[in-house]
Amino acid sequence: MPETQFDFTTADEKKSYVRTMFSDIAGRYDFLNHFLSFGMDYRWRRKAAGLIKKHVAGIAEPRILDIACGTGDLSFEILRQIPNAKITGIDLAKPMLEIFEQKIAERKASITIGEGDVEALSFPDGTFDAVTIGFATRNFTRLEVAFKEIARVLKPGGIFVNLELSKPRTVPMKQLYAFYSRAILPLLGKTISRNTEAYRYLPDSIQRFPEREEIMKMLQTAGFSQTEWKDLSAGIVTMHVGRK
Ligand SMILES: C[S@@+](CC[C@H](N)C(=O)[O-])C[C@H]1O[C@@H](n2cnc3c(N)ncnc32)[C@H](O)[C@@H]1O
Repeated sequence: MPETQFDFTTADEKKSYVRTMFSDIAGRYDFLNHFLSFGMDYRWRRKAAGLIKKHVAGIAEPRILDIACGTGDLSFEILRQIPNAKITGIDLAKPMLEIFEQKIAERKASITIGEGDVEALSFPDGTFDAVTIGFATRNFTRLEVAFKEIARVLKPGGIFVNLELSKPRTVPMKQLYAFYSRAILPLLGKTISRNTEAYRYLPDSIQRFPEREEIMKMLQTAGFSQTEWKDLSAGIVTMHVGRK
């Protein structure tokens, strides 16, 4: 398997491609997200935030890192469910963060955000009670490095929750989804986002992403225990969980 899991020659090439793509679609990202998922993305983020809430219950001001936070919808859901949380969001693409910043100002929310790369997190070891990622791991360059970094910045006993688009395994969702992702999604994405490439990359990146069991093994290798995964919406999304 090539280093980057895609057709990029080097890790830097993929990173730069991903940064440019999200910078280009930033202004239309929220609308497209809700539209193309038929609004199911709200439910997926609620599930992940609910799990974090259970885990940090009893901690006065739990510190939570939302990696690849993008325009912030997962961070906002976490804050809604855990109002005492101290949330930090980081992302590779500045234009995505600018939208997040506007939303923070409109909602008068208290969330700290900044540019950052999951492969080289700028936080000391053992900083966070929980780390989340929503729909971003497909875009990472070296997953093994990312998972190790996440384990490093978590406190002992901390939890990592990862939401990612997945490949449904059961009939009829498997067939329906294959049709939707190959025929409908690129067409809608192209028309609405005016970025043909981005919505060809999306189903392609899901297709090439490692299977659920492989991700579990990678998490264990990175130092996580009590790892588990759960399919949401008949396997359109998978939630992986690991504890440090
Ligand atoms: C599909 S968006 C998800 C945004 C948000 N988490 C959500 O739930 O809507 C993926 C995000 O991952 C970010 N990203 C990709 N590679 C990254 C990396 N190496 N480090 C940090 N962020 C990255 C992109 O810039 C983009 O904003």
